[in-house]
Amino acid sequence: MTNNIHPIFDRLIQKADREQRLNQRAKVLWLTGLSGSGKSTIAEHLEQRLYNEGFFAQVLDGDNIRTGINSNLGFSLEDRLENIRRIAEVAKLYLNSGIITLNSFVSPTREIRHYAKSIIGAPDFIEIYINAPIEVCEARDVKGLYQKARKGEIKGFTGIDSPYEAPENPDFEIKTHECTIEEAVEQLHEFILPIIRYHG
Ligand code: ADX
Repeated sequence: MTNNIHPIFDRLIQKADREQRLNQRAKVLWLTGLSGSGKSTIAEHLEQRLYNEGFFAQVLDGDNIRTGINSNLGFSLEDRLENIRRIAEVAKLYLNSGIITLNSFVSPTREIRHYAKSIIGAPDFIEIYINAPIEVCEARDVKGLYQKARKGEIKGFTGIDSPYEAPENPDFEIKTHECTIEEAVEQLHEFILPIIRYHG
């Protein structure tokens, strides 16, 4: 498939040059968790906070991406893998542009997250587990999807009739049923600040 293709990555301006220009370290923050666990809300708030502080950060979010480049994909495990593959490739482009991405995707299996990590590269992939018990996510039911899944109107819903495998060794974990949104954002901000700060 890659016959006759000659990438020119090494001739382009390098990530380190762009990081210097942007005065930050580019990283991929990968938020995984059940639907309704709080990933998007945390990503959104953190993006705003980083923006206010002068960082160049961008949220990539499941529902957004699935209306755009991944609008042809559904929720079979095969499609989820392809969903995450494309997103990881996009995040890698951002990474090489010196940008911090806040990735908010259910990314339900270890295999899927491992795949994303292998595309992005382990040193730049930061796995963040947004942890809330399924009962809590279901009670929140922000989008009304759990109710639909229980009624059988959505098949293969994560946590109901499709698996969610919690990360075994995440770089950071937030239990959103034990804190407010502000506290969750504060915790994550405190964790990532030393990682994204430019030290020359
Ligand atoms: S992933 O599994 O491929 O990583 P992704 O994060 O892109 O999922 O999309 C998840 C979002 O799609 C959920 O937040 C929810 O709003 C919506 N959704 C619709 N159907 C499903 C489903 N069967 N399982 C999980 N989420 C679903």
